[in-house]
Amino acid sequence: MSIFTMTVYNTRMKGIFIVLEGGDFTGKSTQIKKLAEHLRERGLEVVVTKEPGGTPEGQKIRERLLHEDLKPEEELELFFKDRRILVEEVLRPELTKGKVIISDRSGESTIAYQGGGRGLDRRRIKEQNREIYGDVKPDKIILFDGVPGALRGRAIARGEKLTRFDKLELDFHQRVRESFLEQARENPNMWCVINALRSIEHVFQEVKACVEPLLEKTQFS
Ligand code: TYD
Repeated sequence: MSIFTMTVYNTRMKGIFIVLEGGDFTGKSTQIKKLAEHLRERGLEVVVTKEPGGTPEGQKIRERLLHEDLKPEEELELFFKDRRILVEEVLRPELTKGKVIISDRSGESTIAYQGGGRGLDRRRIKEQNREIYGDVKPDKIILFDGVPGALRGRAIARGEKLTRFDKLELDFHQRVRESFLEQARENPNMWCVINALRSIEHVFQEVKACVEPLLEKTQFS
C-alpha cells in the first residue's frame, strides 16, 4: 500500500501533558503554581495534579508512602497503585477533554527513586509504567536539577519540613539525580533540564521557554 492511500488515525489526545520532575527541594511546587497561572492567563484550561496523591484515594496512599516504614517492593507497588487510579480518574479523561495537565512528578520519578535510588529493577519499572500509562504520554518533561546537598541546605535554611524520602542519605539522592539526568540524555527532545539553584524568576523564564513550542503547535495559541 502506498503512503497516499493509507488511512492515518490520529490517536493522540487533544490535551497537553506537562510533567515536572526532579529531586527533593528543587522548588518544583513554586514553579508549578507560576506555570499554571501563566497558562491560565493565556486562556488555557489547566489541571494541576501530582504523584503520589493526585486523587482522594491516592491521598491515603501518599500518607502511607511518606510516613510508613515500607519495604522497597511494597513502596513500589503503592506508587503503581496510586498511578493506576490517577491515569483512569484524572489524566486520561482530562486529556481527552483537551485540558492542559501539569503533573508534579510522574513515572520518571519511579525510575529515578525506586530504580536509581533503591536499586530495584529498572526494566521492570519501565514496563509497568508503560502498561499503566498506556496511551497517556507526556508532551514535555521538565527536570529541575541541582546538587542534592546544596538543595537540601537551601530547604533547611528556609525551614521546610523533611519527609521520609528527604531524610535519606545524600548518596541516595545523588543516584536519583543521576537517573533523572540519564533519562533526559536518552530522550533529549522530550526533556528540558533546568538548573534549580538559580533564582525563582530565572528558572521560570526557562520553564516558559520550554513549554512555548508546545503551545504554538496547538489549537490554543
Ligand atoms: P513530596 O512531598 O510530594 O515531594 P516533592 O514535593 O519533592 O515531590 O513527596 C513525594 C516523594 O515521593 C518524593 O520524595 C519523591 C518520592 N517518589 C518516589 O520515590 N517514587 C515515585 O514514583 C514518585 C512519584 C515519588
